[in-house]
Amino acid sequence: MLNCPIDGLILECDNNSLKCAHGHSYDKAKQGYINLLTVQNKRSKSPGDSKEMVAARQSFLASNIYKPISEKINQVALSHTETLATNILDAGCGEGYYLTQLEQAAKKEELETNLLGLDISKFAIQAAAKKSKNIQWLVASNRQIPIADQSLDLILCIFGFPVFSEFKQKLTTNGKILLVESAENHLIELRELIYPEIKPYQQNNYQEALDLGLTWGKSDTLSYQVELNKEQLAELLIMTPHIHRANREKLEQVKKLDKLALTINVNFRLLQIK
Ligand SMILES: C[S@@+](CC[C@H](N)C(=O)[O-])C[C@H]1O[C@@H](n2cnc3c(N)ncnc32)[C@H](O)[C@@H]1O
Repeated sequence: MLNCPIDGLILECDNNSLKCAHGHSYDKAKQGYINLLTVQNKRSKSPGDSKEMVAARQSFLASNIYKPISEKINQVALSHTETLATNILDAGCGEGYYLTQLEQAAKKEELETNLLGLDISKFAIQAAAKKSKNIQWLVASNRQIPIADQSLDLILCIFGFPVFSEFKQKLTTNGKILLVESAENHLIELRELIYPEIKPYQQNNYQEALDLGLTWGKSDTLSYQVELNKEQLAELLIMTPHIHRANREKLEQVKKLDKLALTINVNFRLLQIK
């Protein structure tokens, strides 16, 4: 179900590489992932999250602080797994935490899924590929998803960058998009410490998605409290954009804290074709 990112033709397996009928060839990396990111979709030498951000996110997520988020994603995703081998893409999968958790949950419930994870960051996909050999990991962009049109039953976009025109094209007629995003009070205690003022919260209505004919389905919110230790706090600051926008002095003060109690507050919204 993979397409050549240059001409859109089907990619067929040819030993350890994938080839289209025009002869464009893509090697499978020894870790098992495939790089299908074209130069046109690469706006810098190493687009997406850096090696340092990926390492920080990997360590933070491994402590299972966001496990309730992952469990909620699994619940929604597996309730859509009605047909055999449901095709699910995590678009902007990072280092693969959520998709590998979903793989395990599906296995436990004996549900057959075909899981794909893509990210524009090579470092993220290299880390993800080490976690599971059963998931198809791709270095690619949400702006050009190298997967056959109308082949995906569910697209997960978790704290990511949705490209709705592309997502819609890849979905089956009953396909859905699950958007997982920060809600009003997500990490509010940290934001209050590092920003001079907190802007009023406004949920994005994604008019561009509605203009494409997508409609809002079920939505849900998760809220819980955690206490981060010094290391987890440092990792959180590296893996989020906060470190770039925060007040430097305040940021240094936060880095000195031994612990911080935080609110985790996340929205789950489904978009569907009709
Ligand atoms: C905030 S992180 C979230 C990662 C993962 N979903 C998670 O929650 O752990 C955003 C991710 O989107 C990736 N990204 C940025 N632009 C992208 C694009 N155009 N296409 C695909 N991935 C992209 C980054 O490399 C990064 O891994």
